[in-house]
Amino acid sequence: MSRWRTRAWQLGAVALLLPAGYLTLHRDDGAVTAQRLGLPFPAVMAHRGASYLAPEETAWSYRVAKLVGADYLEADIQRSKDGVLIALHDDTLLRTTNVATVFPDRAQQPVSEFTWEELSRLDAGSWFNAKFPDRARPEFASARILRLDQLIDIALASDKPSGLYLETKAPERFPGIEAELIRQLERRGYLSPSLHGKLVFQSFSAASLLLFKQLAPTIPRVYLLDEEMVRRDGFATLVGQARELAQGIGPVGYYAYPWHTRRAHAAGLVVHPYTLNQGWQLRLGRWFGADGAFTDRCELALTVYGRRSPVDVAALWREAAASSLGQ
Ligand code: G3P
Ligand code: CA
Repeated sequence: MSRWRTRAWQLGAVALLLPAGYLTLHRDDGAVTAQRLGLPFPAVMAHRGASYLAPEETAWSYRVAKLVGADYLEADIQRSKDGVLIALHDDTLLRTTNVATVFPDRAQQPVSEFTWEELSRLDAGSWFNAKFPDRARPEFASARILRLDQLIDIALASDKPSGLYLETKAPERFPGIEAELIRQLERRGYLSPSLHGKLVFQSFSAASLLLFKQLAPTIPRVYLLDEEMVRRDGFATLVGQARELAQGIGPVGYYAYPWHTRRAHAAGLVVHPYTLNQGWQLRLGRWFGADGAFTDRCELALTVYGRRSPVDVAALWREAAASSLGQ
């Protein structure tokens, strides 16, 4: 082989090995921070519960997430008109309930315009059966919107409490929601040392995170970042803000490349990207340095992370039906 061809091969090998070495050397930089905070590593956040298998943010999705062993039950917390804290993602009830049938004149109203009694009448599961017929189950038709206290019942059921990873959704619309959330969680033991690492607050709102920092400084907080925030403020600026407000960032997956995770880890922050639902995304996320993931498929993430054997879905449903978790 000529000297030039040998040199070309050597350069090619270096070009391939350098990035691989870079990724390998830095992929677990967040483990130390996670350990300091008492957070599982890599952490599996059941995004809206096991929401691939059951209607999101209902008792079914959280019971299944708990049964498969997700580290955290993730929920978006809002408040009813009469002050009841509930788990619901959207501003309105249109996508995930039959509000258009039960309250046809009010279907466009935000959830905050409905009392708990009104919310409790809605079917929060049939939409799932219609949208995902291959995963439909008759029992979902009786699924209801979940109150925070019911979510806590599920999390605390059994001798192994689940973690709670709670987001204040549009907190500017719910003044005082942070204090109320903390009060309820404190009453149920989630602020006590025995549940250290089992509670994380998350928000896209810096103001909400600041309130959590003031009211419950020992509970870890994660600053959620979406594409618009990164475009507007820049990733480095947001990491700087996160350092003041939180112990971690929750970036949309597009902002969890190695250079993002490295920057966040260098600032002493853990990185929990959302929402990684494919095996390759979960694998790549870890390779790029993420310290876990929000995922609709907690059962898949636990397998990808080597923490459990693949789930037999039929057996899982038999177990869920037989279990009394949080009922
Ligand atoms: O909370 C992490 C992730 O859930 C943020 O996005 O819209 O699903 O609440 P979203
Ligand atoms: Ca969320």
